Amino acid sequence: MNQRQRIYLDHAATSWPKSVAVVDAMTRYVHSCGAAAGRGGYHAAAEADGIVTNVRRSVAALIGTSDISSVSLHSNGTAALNAGIHGVLRPGDHVVTSAAEHNSVLRPLHFLRDRNIIDLTVVPVDRDGVTDADQMLAAVTNTTRLVTLTHASNVTGAMQPIESVAKGMQAKEGFLLVDAAQTFGTTAIDVAMGIDLLAAPGHKASAGPLGTGFLYVNPAIQNELVPFVQGGTGSRSESLDMPAVMPAKLEAGNLNVHALAGWAVALQELRKAGVEPRETIARSLASRLYDGLAGLPHVRVFGKFGPLPIASVAIEDLAPTDAAAILDAEFGVETRAGWHCAALIHGYLGSDPEGTLRISAGHTTTEVEIDAAVSAVGQVARTLHSH
Ligand SMILES: Cc1ncc(COP(=O)(O)O)c(C=O)c1O
Repeated sequence: MNQRQRIYLDHAATSWPKSVAVVDAMTRYVHSCGAAAGRGGYHAAAEADGIVTNVRRSVAALIGTSDISSVSLHSNGTAALNAGIHGVLRPGDHVVTSAAEHNSVLRPLHFLRDRNIIDLTVVPVDRDGVTDADQMLAAVTNTTRLVTLTHASNVTGAMQPIESVAKGMQAKEGFLLVDAAQTFGTTAIDVAMGIDLLAAPGHKASAGPLGTGFLYVNPAIQNELVPFVQGGTGSRSESLDMPAVMPAKLEAGNLNVHALAGWAVALQELRKAGVEPRETIARSLASRLYDGLAGLPHVRVFGKFGPLPIASVAIEDLAPTDAAAILDAEFGVETRAGWHCAALIHGYLGSDPEGTLRISAGHTTTEVEIDAAVSAVGQVARTLHSH
């Protein structure tokens, strides 16, 4: 990489930089351990097992459960969501989802619907990208097996009403799956509110490396899940069937232990720092970002200020892809342009067909970086409209 100054504002995609301790833990594992987890009895293999257990323990503690076996580990948020979605759904089931979802939820659901395996109801969002809890609950019927709702939109950062939906689902039959991709690590979440399945990657706000993610499955429904991927688990190798118990039933194949070594440390750092202080940092960056953008002529901001420092904008008469290229080339400001893997929300935000320019910060972002990004967006808009 060249050494030019980078103002990294693509944290909603993945957080960067990772802490030195996270990088060191990965290097240490590769150099001096290197063993697979769950497959051997020698010392290094036990060390690898310890890393995996550490991650499970930290994730469990951060989501409010003491049952570490209810947390299965996956290669990213998408793999975790697919394990949950394909795991619980059966032919003839009805699913309720929202237009705020990421394609890692929408695409598996559409795949199943297109093959006439499930019925699907997509609940619209308002022009700020927020789902109405009552509308979502009203769509639940006696054949609804699954309700899925993202905790926050990855396009605008808009928080979704997961508490109200979880409360309403207590009186109904189906399971609730929450996608916490944008919130895990920066917003407190407790599965005891009535979440049956909770998925998130480890490489976003919880500051682990790429190649990490988890799925929580409420112990009461673990028997309802069929493994979506089958293969070796290092246990009961004489059997042609996948183990019936969590987490092994959802963890076919070797885990990405070197990334987990880094995530284990990132999670320890998160627990030491506390989610609430990270929440405070996020809210303060969000307020600075939204305040700054709101004052810029020829810049439209989609959605409203909320607790997450994710903002989607459009510069009048400039395609988001061109805006992102100029910001990168001229100012070293790294953002993301387009649809952000969210096929449905833009129709409601009014950001189709070009999508948005998304600016997203994390707990390592400084106020100076936010100000530099806002000023750069302002300069691009001003220059374009001064002629
Ligand atoms: C809301 C949301 N859900 C799911 C995902 C998928 O996560 P991953 O990229 O780790 O597969 C993302 C990633 O951007 C996301 O923002």
